[in-house]
Amino acid sequence: MQTVSSVLDSISDVGRDASRGGYSRGVYTGAESSLREWFSAEAAARGLSVETDRNGILWAWWDATDSRDGALVTGSHLDSVPGGGAYDGPLGVASALVAVDLLRERGVQPNRSLAVAVFPEEEGSRFGVSCLGSRLLTGTLDPDQVRSLKDTDGITFADAARSAGIDVSHLGRDEDAIRRIGDFVELHVEQGRGLIDLDAPVAIGSTMLGHGRWRLSITGQGNHAGTTLMADRADPMIAAAQVVLAARTVAAEQDGARATVGRLQPVPGGTNVIASRVDLWLDVRHEEDAVTASLIEKIHGRAQKICAFEDCRATLTEESRSGTVHFDGALQRTLGNALKRSFPGAPTLPTGAGHDAGILGTIAPTAMLFVRNPTGISHSPEEFVERDDADAGATALADVLEDLL
Ligand code: GLV
Ligand code: MN
Ligand code: MN
Repeated sequence: MQTVSSVLDSISDVGRDASRGGYSRGVYTGAESSLREWFSAEAAARGLSVETDRNGILWAWWDATDSRDGALVTGSHLDSVPGGGAYDGPLGVASALVAVDLLRERGVQPNRSLAVAVFPEEEGSRFGVSCLGSRLLTGTLDPDQVRSLKDTDGITFADAARSAGIDVSHLGRDEDAIRRIGDFVELHVEQGRGLIDLDAPVAIGSTMLGHGRWRLSITGQGNHAGTTLMADRADPMIAAAQVVLAARTVAAEQDGARATVGRLQPVPGGTNVIASRVDLWLDVRHEEDAVTASLIEKIHGRAQKICAFEDCRATLTEESRSGTVHFDGALQRTLGNALKRSFPGAPTLPTGAGHDAGILGTIAPTAMLFVRNPTGISHSPEEFVERDDADAGATALADVLEDLL
């Protein structure tokens, strides 16, 4: 039987990013498409029947009864942030495949069907909206707007998905898929230091922090870097720099808040050109959704003042938002009982990251398992999981699935 690490080793060359380091596996790029093919082959090799649904979600079915309704679903995603680590997403997919092997080895006879699912564009790295596949499935996005989302090369989501063989005329809320998800359990690499500090290999997820993304477009006057006197400029980059600092100040003044500008794009983007526009993306998170809303309002207010002073204009657009999620209490208790066999006293941990399990919580009971990351770093090539911990995670997942089947 394969270990989780040996499954992951087989994709360790896919989507490596020589310039950023780590992996860049944007949804429906060559790298992510290869991973989708790899997943289909791995699932087929295990006798699972693979299908792609209307929203591009891959499903690998272990049909235990003649119905797929109310099935037990596990899985994660294969897309990455730019220059990301090897585990955020793929660990959950590889662990699910190994958990199927373990269940079979244990001779488990399921009372309901089991599916391993792979959700597209969880990171929102290519088209801007995180958890795009699960949001489409649950019907919280307008399919027309999704079809017209563009990546940084101007390629629409519709064209990218079509090139991956998806008929984009059927995107949107999927009642069949919703009926099929009885419970969803996602295993994920831990993205902070919780399990290092607790000295434990696995934990049960308790909550997912509310978060959102906003694009702030600052327009000024594009001009020549050499001929325009400093006093004559309306430079949106100067305004953007102050907004970045304002976001930090606003978040620092609020307990538990996080605000990040991880992406900023000057237009046209020339060394000797004063930009005519700068787009910057704000990621703001807080456990109370009203506080998240007030944080973004404050940052926007400061941006307006900064822009007025710099002779620029700012327009704020919300790209996505998710409230704080409390994972299903009964399912957490089931996980706790299952983990007593191999991991007695397994801790419970909140996560500051976003996950499809959070989005799917509106249509079914969902839960998460986290696996220790000895660097405590994620969304970076330094994200890591020890081989033994990866196998511990698969054992924990198999224990949970066995009890839920
Ligand atoms: C995804 O990992 C996110 O938290 O944005
Ligand atoms: Mn993830
Ligand atoms: Mn991530």
